[in-house]
Amino acid sequence: MSENVQRTLVVLKPDAVQRAIAGELLARFERRGLRIAALRLMRVSRALAETHYAVHAGKFFYDDLVKTISASPVVAIVLEGPNAIAVVRAMVGATRPHEAAPGTIRGDYALVGLRNLVHASDAPETAATEIALWFPEGVVSYTRDVERWMTDEGAPA
Ligand code: CDP
Ligand code: MG
Repeated sequence: MSENVQRTLVVLKPDAVQRAIAGELLARFERRGLRIAALRLMRVSRALAETHYAVHAGKFFYDDLVKTISASPVVAIVLEGPNAIAVVRAMVGATRPHEAAPGTIRGDYALVGLRNLVHASDAPETAATEIALWFPEGVVSYTRDVERWMTDEGAPA
């Protein structure tokens, strides 16, 4: 199989839910062909926020980041597909929205770093750690009939 099928964690942050564009953002990933392997609306505890963003502890924006992501509910999602980690990062765009290209989520919808709408895992190791942290109950494995029209599976034919 030539595909590098991966899972990645996406969090539609409080600003996405409050602005009522969570569905619109999820639709972009679905339309791209990525499969939803887990999905939950949830409030983020301070403990979860601190663990999730531990890599940023001590940085000037850390306290604001932890407060911001736990201020209001988020939609946590696991997406799955060929090269899902890089595909999702590219769709999300640069961290600082003024540097994010048009056509990316941040480049189309966001203005400032603390209101940049989406978290997405940045590497296979962080994806595995984050998925286990946010979905300790595990994710759902299944296939869709349409898969063979969007992936190498079943092609050429
Ligand atoms: O989310 P991403 O992986 O693109 O960026 P990060 O470097 O992992 O930082 C995590 C989050 O911290 C960002 O998404 C921003 O919300 C916030 N941040 C910020 O407000 N100001 C910065 N200079 C860097 C990050
Ligand atoms: Mg990051």
